Amino acid sequence: MRGKTLYTCSDCGGTSPKWLGQCPHCRAWNTLTEGPAPAPASPAKRFAALAAPQPVATLADIEAADVARTPTGVDELDRALGGGIVEGGVTLIGGDPGIGKSTLLLQAAEALATRLPVLYVTGEESAAQVALRARRLGLAGQGVRVVAEIHLEQIAATLEAENPRFCVIDSIQTLYSDTLSSAPGSVAQVRECAAQLTRLAKARGMALVLVGHVTKDGQLAGPRVLEHIVDTVLYFEGDTHSSFRLVRTIKNRFGAVNEIGVFAMTERGLRGVGNPSAIFLSTHGEPVAGACVLVTLEGTRPLLVEIQALVDAGGASPRRLSVGLERDRLAMLLAVLHRHAGVASSDQDVFVNAVGGVRISEPAADLAVLLAIQSSLRGQPLPRGFFAFGEVGLAGEVRPAPRGQERLKEAAKLGFSVAVVPKANAPKKPIAGLTIHAVERIDEALAAVRP
Ligand code: TYD
Ligand code: MG
Repeated sequence: MRGKTLYTCSDCGGTSPKWLGQCPHCRAWNTLTEGPAPAPASPAKRFAALAAPQPVATLADIEAADVARTPTGVDELDRALGGGIVEGGVTLIGGDPGIGKSTLLLQAAEALATRLPVLYVTGEESAAQVALRARRLGLAGQGVRVVAEIHLEQIAATLEAENPRFCVIDSIQTLYSDTLSSAPGSVAQVRECAAQLTRLAKARGMALVLVGHVTKDGQLAGPRVLEHIVDTVLYFEGDTHSSFRLVRTIKNRFGAVNEIGVFAMTERGLRGVGNPSAIFLSTHGEPVAGACVLVTLEGTRPLLVEIQALVDAGGASPRRLSVGLERDRLAMLLAVLHRHAGVASSDQDVFVNAVGGVRISEPAADLAVLLAIQSSLRGQPLPRGFFAFGEVGLAGEVRPAPRGQERLKEAAKLGFSVAVVPKANAPKKPIAGLTIHAVERIDEALAAVRP
């Protein structure tokens, strides 16, 4: 008799007994793949699940101890983690190939090994390759235990024997478990291996880091499944052509999200950048048309990022492309620019870019994007030492950005001298060296920079 099959969604891991074009759970299209159905649990097992009731406590009576964190010793990583690793805490770190995940974790393993037993499980590279990287990085490697293994059951046995307090799995996509017949890297395997390892980490009080690859469309493979399972999700981003890398916190059960760690990739590995505010500015001698500096807030730190726009005569269907900014937001801003400021661009190609491979998701970038677009359209540079921030609404209003004073102070500290900001963010008393145009509507903002 043919075994039963089950169709599993590669996005959310949901299942369906028959093939469907659209996943019934997460509504993604063409994500169901065929696989063998797991054998039904035996009746004995099913009844075991109905065993004695568990003791239930009242929330107020439960002792809420703050989690103890161990700093990894890599400061910028600790910042992203919310202070350090946590006993039994599971972290997923995702990013493009070659961005520096293995390098960062090897550095963290080395720094932690002086205080804790550390195990580095490599599934992608041989132990010799890991050793070679450690030598290149100038790491002593004393105390960092390494095993090249991709078989989950073997890894579980190794964890039993080694009993590490900190364990790195590089990467989760290379592992496979005997309990499933699908290939390593399939959603079922990734989910099963991550779930088993998470259970082990919680049971042993071991801090676990899973390295995850990113698929072509920028998601962690088997993304939503893994994000549910783990406590913390970090995302490595940056342009592989520039040396700067950001580690961004997407989810953190033990700390704040949207915190970032900033690194520079050097020939001796990743170095933390303690004061990163000015690294995403390109260096123009003279101001150029189509460039506007944005003060964005990443976690607790303001960052100055240059937004570039290029507006050029387009063909029959003009293109709107953005790198590091949301494309839908760009389309919306162009419509607002047309309706509320009379600046038409419907027959133009519009490209916008955030310098340095940084990804900006906060709406406070709107004003800088609009000013860069207008500057490119007119071929007129913004004033020397200029910057902007503020959200733009569909009615053409300029809305305040959170923590405006900090943004203004950081820009002033770096020598910027003139700004367009939302009225509600205007400082109560003047900031030395800073000329501020406080605006309520986008036409005011555009008029403020017109020569
Ligand atoms: P790696 O950590 O292997 O990336 P991942 O694990 O995310 O795939 O990083 C590889 C890149 O980093 C590679 O292109 C070389 C570069 N690199 C340096 O520039 N300096 C170094 O000291 C090391 C170890 C790597
Ligand atoms: Mg790697």
